[in-house]
Amino acid sequence: MYLRKGFCALAALGLSAATASEDLQGIYALAKRRAPAHAHEFSFALFEGEPDAFEISDARSGIHIQCTTVSACARGFYTYLTQYGGVDIWWTGSRLNQLPSRLPKVGKTVKGQAIVPYRYHFNTVTFDYTAAFWDFEQWELELDWLALRGVNLPLAWVGYEYILIETFREAGLSDADISDFLSGPAFQAWNRFGNIQGSWGGLLPMAWVDDQFALQKRLLPRMVELGMTPVMPSFTGFVPRALSALHPNASIVTGSQWSGFPTALTNDSFLEPFDPLFATLQQSFIAKQQAAYGADVSHVYTLDQYNENDPFSGDLDYLRNVSAGTFASLRAADPAAVWLMQGWLFFSDAVFWTDDRVAAYLGGVPGNDSMIVLDLYSEAQPQWNRTASYSGKQWVWCELHDYGGNIGMEGNLDVLTHAPLTALSSPGSSMKGVGLTMEGQEGNEIVYDILLDQAWSSTPLNTSSYVSSWVSRRYPVKPLPKAAQEAWRILSTTVYNNQDPNTQATIKGIYELAPSLTGMTNRTGHHPTAIPYDTDATMVAALKLLLEARAQHPALSAVPEFAYDVVDVARQLLSNRFIGLYDTLIQTYTSTSSTAQSVSAAGQPLLALLTDLDALLSTNEHFLLSSWIADARKWAHGSPSYGAYLEYNARNQVTLWGPDGEINDYASKAWAGLVGTYYKPRWAAFVDYLVETKGTGQAYNATAVSSTMLAIGQEWGNRTWGTGPGERWGVHGDTWETVGHVLRTWA
Ligand SMILES: *[C@@H]1O[C@H](CO)[C@@H](O)[C@H](O)[C@H]1NC(C)=O
Ligand SMILES: *[C@@H]1O[C@H](CO)[C@@H](O)[C@H](O)[C@H]1NC(C)=O
Ligand SMILES: *[C@@H]1O[C@H](CO)[C@@H](O)[C@H](O)[C@H]1NC(C)=O
Ligand SMILES: *[C@@H]1O[C@H](CO)[C@@H](O)[C@H](O)[C@H]1NC(C)=O
Ligand SMILES: *[C@@H]1O[C@H](CO)[C@@H](O)[C@H](O)[C@H]1NC(C)=O
Ligand SMILES: *[C@@H]1O[C@H](CO)[C@@H](O)[C@H](O)[C@H]1NC(C)=O
Ligand SMILES: *[C@@H]1O[C@H](CO)[C@@H](O)[C@H](O)[C@H]1NC(C)=O
Ligand SMILES: *[C@@H]1O[C@H](CO)[C@@H](O)[C@H](O)[C@H]1NC(C)=O
Ligand SMILES: *[C@@H]1O[C@H](CO)[C@@H](O)[C@H](O)[C@H]1NC(C)=O
Repeated sequence: MYLRKGFCALAALGLSAATASEDLQGIYALAKRRAPAHAHEFSFALFEGEPDAFEISDARSGIHIQCTTVSACARGFYTYLTQYGGVDIWWTGSRLNQLPSRLPKVGKTVKGQAIVPYRYHFNTVTFDYTAAFWDFEQWELELDWLALRGVNLPLAWVGYEYILIETFREAGLSDADISDFLSGPAFQAWNRFGNIQGSWGGLLPMAWVDDQFALQKRLLPRMVELGMTPVMPSFTGFVPRALSALHPNASIVTGSQWSGFPTALTNDSFLEPFDPLFATLQQSFIAKQQAAYGADVSHVYTLDQYNENDPFSGDLDYLRNVSAGTFASLRAADPAAVWLMQGWLFFSDAVFWTDDRVAAYLGGVPGNDSMIVLDLYSEAQPQWNRTASYSGKQWVWCELHDYGGNIGMEGNLDVLTHAPLTALSSPGSSMKGVGLTMEGQEGNEIVYDILLDQAWSSTPLNTSSYVSSWVSRRYPVKPLPKAAQEAWRILSTTVYNNQDPNTQATIKGIYELAPSLTGMTNRTGHHPTAIPYDTDATMVAALKLLLEARAQHPALSAVPEFAYDVVDVARQLLSNRFIGLYDTLIQTYTSTSSTAQSVSAAGQPLLALLTDLDALLSTNEHFLLSSWIADARKWAHGSPSYGAYLEYNARNQVTLWGPDGEINDYASKAWAGLVGTYYKPRWAAFVDYLVETKGTGQAYNATAVSSTMLAIGQEWGNRTWGTGPGERWGVHGDTWETVGHVLRTWA
């Protein structure tokens, strides 16, 4: 039933079943790119039928995959590669070229079909927390990863500012006025959301804007040839302050203050959608975008006005009026426009967004196929069930899971395999998709894989057999030692079976937080630091088993995903062990019988652990601050000042996040370099402070401690990587030696 309904929705988006075989050129190119030795053995063909269905069969000289959509062909190809070929493509790299030399036959025809028309990917902020500095090759891996898993609706924000600037120029704004509004390369998402305006550390260079525009011109055709409908930007209403002077009669209101930023950098001006100027700017924006990329690339537009921003009024007529005006402007510019919005506000600002306000805002938009709402945090805080399935509007069941690109193991496989099906079959459900809306893509790949796979299964996946098959292709050595499977059996039934409602998100290491006497441990909610499992029974056990597997089959050492996982489990072990050391330090300090010497002694293990953690992370290319900085700097066209600007942006995002630590440590990372040159010096300063005040008998002064930490952050943010002690580029040290040391010292 939903498939039929879904089909109509697809047709409306221009996503209807492909008809000509040239539509499959992108899939042939994908096979050549990722499995060159076998590409000629795969044939693909379209057939008429229910959308997003595929059939895999043996052909005389290889494997034949038929599909009703291009996306289904990619998914059919993936099904063969993973289930028969035993290979996969990972965030850590594609291993699809490791197919067996003789392709295994499938025997009886294998059939598959998506259970929902939309498979969505990205959060607006993923474009900064993960992809801010990606070049085409990094994007290419991502897009292949998405296409193969059957994603057909990816967000496509890259290059937005180019079109926006042209639109503002046409409206009569000067380049200085526009510059005053735009935010830096690592912070564009929040400018796009209307949370912040302007820059710190220097104005956004036009070279950045032009380069991103050029990148988008390569990404969009690639998305389309892989069977995806990109979700395009649109004009949101957020405008430079100077627009008020230019149009004194326009209805421009000042938005709210975001996350403690100074007024100059937030309180964005918002042109009200019922003002005729709004429709004019929308028309201008969409016309320019279509001229740049083609009018048929997509008719789906991302448009968020109130993400962590309060509406000017809570009056129901006002809210209805705003969404009506917004949607009318989209349809005037593109008669087939569909409005996609992130539903985060309905959870994060549930106090404002009462049921009737949600209904009024959604109700301003006529029809149900006209909108797609991302139920952004479905795995923990679903809103579809309090909003009458978003009043009948289409919506997508999304997994959020990660905030700020934080690195920490957590997951709930049970909910990911059951809850989407429950939502889909609930009475009156208007759910039309499944998607990933993680703020950053950092580790925990299993929880993202399983959800995109669940989108192709009408019954809940069996998590134990799923994990076993996933591990077999992640570590493709024959025979795979049982110890490796056992390590993952433990992780998947504990860490990845987290039922604690208070810790449903990536768990942050407290060593990444600015040190303080209180408020560090046992945090729950948005950035949990509470560890909802027993570290000995999970991390220590899994690490020992993985190393045992390697001892039995040394070829595992050469599998990049195996090395990644070993480092990741060891990282989590150290991260959790730090909590106990911290508790001891604080107990020692607050005890009346302690001395400066005993406080100093209690502080040393924390610093020793951070030294070991930095050394551990240094051994793997995926845990390096230097990669983040190098990725940023490579856009500098050889200009030292532009390079320094990009590096400041990169450093500031993962530390102070704002000129003065406005959302300090929100986007912290378990990265070599960050641990060694930033977190460790902060903890050393903290220990020194505790020792000193213990010695003098002075009272602990929280204000003094936090201003010390801020000063360290500001000085650190201005540095140039590679010029100071311990600032090395690339990988250093031997993984296995380092992990052995971690296990001996900290298990
Ligand atoms: C703005 O409104 C005032 C009063 O209604 C009118 O006199 C004026 O001409 C308008 N200005 C512009 C630029 O439209
Ligand atoms: C900024 O927004 C806050 C509400 O979030 C408001 O109290 C404040 O007055 C605004 N500032 C300006 C300059 O509009
Ligand atoms: C929205 O409000 C404006 C200004 O009050 C009004 O002119 C317009 O007709 C309203 N539009 C709708 C669709 O209610
Ligand atoms: C929606 O579902 C979630 C998760 O099952 C539950 O915690 C919440 O109470 C439900 N909300 C409503 C209004 O039923
Ligand atoms: C949209 O969905 C709601 C809830 O199912 C329904 O009452 C309404 O009639 C639908 N609107 C249209 C235009 O189909
Ligand atoms: C899941 O698969 C395992 C075999 O891997 C089997 O033992 C178990 O019974 C299955 N569970 C369910 C609920 O079907
Ligand atoms: C944190 O929670 C754990 C487990 O509930 C408890 O043992 C510990 O004392 C708590 N720590 C603090 C600082 O409250
Ligand atoms: C705490 O430190 C701050 C900042 O250094 C200082 O202004 C304040 O006076 C100190 N408070 C006390 C009670 O010493
Ligand atoms: C960092 O650099 C900025 C811009 O060059 C400068 O204004 C600021 O004072 C520097 N801060 C520190 C702590 O060095």
